[in-house]
Amino acid sequence: MTAFAHAPRIRRAWHAVTRSCDLTNRPLAVRVCGDDLVVWRGRDGAVGAAPDRCPHREAPLSLGRVVDGLLQCPYHGWSFAPDGACELVPSSGPGAAVPPRAHLPCVRVQERYGLVWVCLGEPEADLPVVPEDDDPAFRRIVQPVEAWSAAATRLVDNFNDTAHFAWVHVGSFGGAADPAVAPITLEPLGDWHGWRFEVTAANEGSGSSASGQSTATVARRMSTGFSLPFLVRSTIEYPAVGLHHVLLLVTTPVDDERSLFTFVVWRNDDFRVGADEVTALDRLIGAEDKAMLERIPGTLPLDATTLVNVQSDRASVEWRRRLREWLADEPTPG
Ligand code: FES
Ligand code: FE
Repeated sequence: MTAFAHAPRIRRAWHAVTRSCDLTNRPLAVRVCGDDLVVWRGRDGAVGAAPDRCPHREAPLSLGRVVDGLLQCPYHGWSFAPDGACELVPSSGPGAAVPPRAHLPCVRVQERYGLVWVCLGEPEADLPVVPEDDDPAFRRIVQPVEAWSAAATRLVDNFNDTAHFAWVHVGSFGGAADPAVAPITLEPLGDWHGWRFEVTAANEGSGSSASGQSTATVARRMSTGFSLPFLVRSTIEYPAVGLHHVLLLVTTPVDDERSLFTFVVWRNDDFRVGADEVTALDRLIGAEDKAMLERIPGTLPLDATTLVNVQSDRASVEWRRRLREWLADEPTPG
């Protein structure tokens, strides 16, 4: 068991909490790295994020409402702008001064790739770049954020592992997968570190709309890479039809044993197939991983010796080694 959710460097990373389109006029309660936050969309569409605790009597602000662009506490109606400024204390009457300590200690927030991201400290690095996001040949499909009862480290380990395809994903694309995994050579892949590989996948049902072809099996030329701490990007090419598919796998630690998970897809297809149809296969695959990972208790051991590894675990071993070193290499503040 290796705890990680409270590590300072994890707190200084960006974590996705919801889709931008799902944050409308109701505040969202979300736990990230063990901290309870309220996230809301206020005046002029700006997003605010702060501890879910009113500075007056500690009522959960997420139980309140957004009124006239301000987050209104449900207990006595104090109301806050997206930057945390308290602009209204109704009991003091109109125009009365607001105590400076009434302001919310907001955390950093940004919207990117169709998601709302928070950072609980001073960000060390920006999110990795997905060049397809600015490419008009690609459309972006953002899936709803799900709650998984599994450690973020177990999710990312799984996303760096192809040996489970022929076992866990036998109900989706893994039916035709060879259980033997070709040797893995890790290399830099833009902002990511990972490897390239090819799989022959079953191509039935939702698989055929994902691949744009109707053959019984389909060749997928893929790459997978990670960006510390918890982001993973997969690229999938269907060479027969020139289809390019980028999948950003986004894992947020709720605490050491629970996670939020979603994925964002970019595709250069002809837009005739609906978003639900093109992501049906990815959703099925995600459900297969979730069912497996939710049966594994606790966090993933990060040290080099607790678990037994074989050659197909090379990417996961490297991701864990880098994560371990990154967590240990804590920059001194100030
Ligand atoms: Fe929030 Fe009183 S507890 S206004
Ligand atoms: Fe999987």
